[in-house]
Amino acid sequence: MLVLIKNGRVIDPGNLDGIVDILIKDGKISEIKEHKSGVRGQGSRVGDQGSEVRIIDASGKIVTPGLIDMHVHLREPGHEYKETIKSGCLAAAHGGFTAICPMPNTNPVNDNGQITEYILNKAAIADTVRVYPVAAISKGLNGKSLCEYGELKEAGAIALSDDGNPVSNSQLMRRAMEYAKGFSMPIISHCEDLDLVANGVVNEGAVATSMGLAGIPNAAESTMIMRDIALYELTASHLHIAHVSTKESVLAIRNAKKRGVKVTAETAPHYFTLTEDTIKGYNTNAKMNPPLRSSQDREAILKGLADGIIDVIATDHAPHSYIEKEVEFDQAANGIIGLETSVSLSLKLVHDGVISLTGLVEKMSTNPAKILGLNIGIKTGRPADITIIDPDRSYKIDSSKFQSLSRNTPFNGWDMKGKAVLTMVGGKILFDEI
Ligand code: DOR
Ligand code: ZN
Repeated sequence: MLVLIKNGRVIDPGNLDGIVDILIKDGKISEIKEHKSGVRGQGSRVGDQGSEVRIIDASGKIVTPGLIDMHVHLREPGHEYKETIKSGCLAAAHGGFTAICPMPNTNPVNDNGQITEYILNKAAIADTVRVYPVAAISKGLNGKSLCEYGELKEAGAIALSDDGNPVSNSQLMRRAMEYAKGFSMPIISHCEDLDLVANGVVNEGAVATSMGLAGIPNAAESTMIMRDIALYELTASHLHIAHVSTKESVLAIRNAKKRGVKVTAETAPHYFTLTEDTIKGYNTNAKMNPPLRSSQDREAILKGLADGIIDVIATDHAPHSYIEKEVEFDQAANGIIGLETSVSLSLKLVHDGVISLTGLVEKMSTNPAKILGLNIGIKTGRPADITIIDPDRSYKIDSSKFQSLSRNTPFNGWDMKGKAVLTMVGGKILFDEI
């Protein structure tokens, strides 16, 4: 079976930008032709074997290398009622992602090769998007002793993180960076000073006070980012900062990059879309860690995205059930789902002139691939991992239709412009709404 994607605007930053036809054969990109000449046989048949060809007309759409979400939580093993590897993979495909990186805070924790293999086996059975597990920095995420990084890498882990928990002990973090460097594995740091967080559950400030909730100051995040940057400079390893939420964090990363430090950073759509105001009414679907911040913080995140200080948009897809969310605000679990809303929310940045379409593809595909060492791109011979985006498709977010097993999103009912309309992995179409 051949597939021909024709008439789409292909955006593969640093490689291609133009109206291009792509022929896919045996799961790989076999021909790329400028639109003016077109791939042979644009009728019902193409190629010398005369095989049937499925034609996908991508006129008016954007064709990109498969989008990668480098920060998700699948809840398997341990909390399969919130998300399984299969449901998470399907949610990813429906959201336009061809690859995802699940964090290790499962039960048991992904802190040894057997769990990494278990996740990869389940992903192989699901047979949908590519899954690159992130393993734990410390055993049981306890922040006390390091995991066996060689074993984890051999089993298929792509990076290391104690996400959900910070590595509070600076000496342990230093050793983790040194150890990970030997295996060329990036450390993805969840930056949080737990002493400063104390019993805080939302952003520190007037909204928290008016709601009678304890606050988390911006410094709880930015001080740890500064520590990690200092450790990174000490160890010359590979540091990526997870879910940046404050203006001070953006400034710390900006200053580091200015002096040539090759740290990378991500933020999530909720931090550039929402502010702490969304928690009003004790909306637990707007509760996450780090918390939604002030409008000044949001502005700084937008600027950081615009000028490249923030390299990546990742969802921090964190499924939780009603049991964890329909409780008192301070008792509610942290996190919101994001796989099926991320592309639309990120396209809003393009419509608002914050970033270009090329910038969007960089932050959702090219940069995550670079950080993780993945070889992607719309190039002859490469596996056909492709996302097609309709930047103008209007629709209403309906969480009842999500593939995810969870519904904890503050974006249900939002009117959106633009979405992913087709997801292809290894030439196989996993989602098609074109
Ligand atoms: O909001 C969050 N949810 N932040 C985290 O760091 C962990 C995540 C989760 O696992 O639910
Ligand atoms: Zn996370």
